[in-house]
Amino acid sequence: MPTQADHLYARAKKVIAGGVSSDARRADKPLFVDHARGAELWDVDGKRYLDYVLGQGPNLLGHAAPLVADAVSAQVRRGVAYAAQHELEAEVAERLCSMVPAAELVRFNSVGSEAVHGAIRLARGHTGRPKIVKFEGNYHGWLDPVLYSVHPDVALAGDAKHPTAVGGTAGQPRHDADDLIVLPYNDLAAVAAVLDRCGDEVAAVILEPLLCNTGCITPSPGYLEGLRELTRQHGSLLIFDEIITGFRVAPGGAGELLGVVPDLAAFGKAMAGGMQVSALVGSAEVMGSIADGKVAHAGTFNSHPVAMAAADAVLTYLDEKRASVYPPLTSTGQRLMAGLRTAAERQGVPLLVDGPGPVFQTYITDQAAVTDYRSFAACDRAAMARFHAGLFAAGINIVPRGLWFLSTEHTADQVDETLAAADSVLSSL
Ligand SMILES: Cc1ncc(COP(=O)(O)O)c(C=O)c1O
Repeated sequence: MPTQADHLYARAKKVIAGGVSSDARRADKPLFVDHARGAELWDVDGKRYLDYVLGQGPNLLGHAAPLVADAVSAQVRRGVAYAAQHELEAEVAERLCSMVPAAELVRFNSVGSEAVHGAIRLARGHTGRPKIVKFEGNYHGWLDPVLYSVHPDVALAGDAKHPTAVGGTAGQPRHDADDLIVLPYNDLAAVAAVLDRCGDEVAAVILEPLLCNTGCITPSPGYLEGLRELTRQHGSLLIFDEIITGFRVAPGGAGELLGVVPDLAAFGKAMAGGMQVSALVGSAEVMGSIADGKVAHAGTFNSHPVAMAAADAVLTYLDEKRASVYPPLTSTGQRLMAGLRTAAERQGVPLLVDGPGPVFQTYITDQAAVTDYRSFAACDRAAMARFHAGLFAAGINIVPRGLWFLSTEHTADQVDETLAAADSVLSSL
């Protein structure tokens, strides 16, 4: 019998292209949510899920966190969109500058793709150089200049050591690829070789400092430090895309966790408890090219008062309560990770579980480690799809490619419930 979700999907397909509002939500049966609270969400047919997707990461404090709801509703009554200056944006910017080691000056946008776009333009405008180095498997949003080689067909991507830039969509200007150099992740020698060859043309090296869009890959020891040194030597900028990792893996993001300070960084997702806001942050020197008007940066909704109210509440909480937020968040994630490893061993499934805890990845693979896109692509992704489908049927919602996001609201009982469901799904694989 058709469900309420089936009816809604049929209705949506008549008026929304593909029936979904983001390609990331495409599925045979997309999830239609009725409401969500804490670590749980309910679909339109009344089924309850333990949620490890959390809106693709933003709901670090759980869904409908009271402090976010209060801040948002108080601000809505004072005006929703000013497109003018207001006190909250200075508060949030000050908080960012005190929490994030790379932040001396800030500009706000609405979503992650925009903040990354700002970083790329600023890098080119500030250095006067055309080229950007990015890494296979890294996602930096859906805009043309960076939507290359995220999860390319390996046959098209060619040699693992010298990958070809593979476009992510029809409609990208072909010349974008001329100024993009795609390299393997976690391979410092590859970056050194390119910078030796044409470093004076490279405006920036951009990466997810802890890669969360292709598994969950902590960079090899010395990799980030090496990138920092090489980019400095060649006068190129280092850009960290912290849209997922920011405020999730540590109060100051992966830059703080891993001890490397980039020239520019982009933050989004977790910084406002589910409200849409992003921030481009960086050194006073580089951000100076926006400050003095050399590099354009704009947006009607930038520093949107309601989003700023949410960001102010969330960042103040994370900053002031850091000792009671991050250690339990990490240990809850790590307990879940350990339990999944034990269950997989018991059921004889080669499940590799990796990540810092507040976010982590399950891979089905015989490989001892996944360190870059090619080792990610070598995992059994069909088995992962079955694992995801089994969990989903059992009321456990994870990102289909095997990524898990934790919130401060996931309880020990919910972790136990998840492990019991995972054990049974693994046994059926
Ligand atoms: C690392 C990274 N950068 C940029 C983006 C783009 O952010 P948004 O979807 O808010 O535009 C994402 C989105 O998932 C991301 O994971």
